[in-house]
Amino acid sequence: MKKEYILFIDSGMGGLSTLSIAYKNLPTNYIYYADTKNAPYGNHSRKEIFKFVKKIVDDMKNRFNILVVVLACNTATTSAIEQLRKTFKAIKFIGTEPALKLAYNQGYKRILMVATPTTIKQKKYKHLESSLNVYIENLALKTFASSIEKFLLSKSIFAYFVMQKNIYQIAKKSRSSDCLILGCTHYVLARRQIKKIIKKPALDGNFGVFKQVCFWHAKTFSSKQTKSRVKFVISGNEKGSQEIYKKIFYEILAKV
Ligand code: DGL
Repeated sequence: MKKEYILFIDSGMGGLSTLSIAYKNLPTNYIYYADTKNAPYGNHSRKEIFKFVKKIVDDMKNRFNILVVVLACNTATTSAIEQLRKTFKAIKFIGTEPALKLAYNQGYKRILMVATPTTIKQKKYKHLESSLNVYIENLALKTFASSIEKFLLSKSIFAYFVMQKNIYQIAKKSRSSDCLILGCTHYVLARRQIKKIIKKPALDGNFGVFKQVCFWHAKTFSSKQTKSRVKFVISGNEKGSQEIYKKIFYEILAKV
């Protein structure tokens, strides 16, 4: 029987935060696809993002037996998940949603949602926002995800500066909020830096994704195993990026 896989997709390393929870708690075969060639997704249109992710799924399903795809990216989820489900009927798609419902259920009254411009613009997001009877303010950040990616990849001082500038922008806007939603998987990787400056709860949708992964894994996989395995595919294939991704993934994993 052909080896069965769960494919995680993000524009870069944001989805490593999502994968780490699954890798640690659900032993199976994973592929992590970082579409760095087309990153950042947050500055692309819905149509373009659908085209990028469709191509990835097409390529990967020709090479591997993919049963489940996780869009470990809020931008790709809000932009393309519905069309992808219609296009690839035999594959289960799991999306990453901003943790607004979680914040609502935990009783927060004034929420600041930070995400990419594309996420905040989408109908799917607007629908989620208006379904909850709570005050939500949105902040679209154009450079935060890419500065986090660059900082983690190269430790560049310039990227660190841009990252900090974004965090101060969030801090300013969050003065009257009682909670922060990290509506982009990249932001989860900067949680420590955010928390140093903003002393408020910062929620993300990763645990919700993990529950869905367990559900669909139990339903679709015919074989069970005791150890997780992961392959990394990086579309931009920048020099040494595979090794850096692996190193960062194992660092994240050690903290889960
Ligand atoms: N990590 C992605 C998200 O959750 C997007 C980052 C990007 O703009 O590429 O939205």
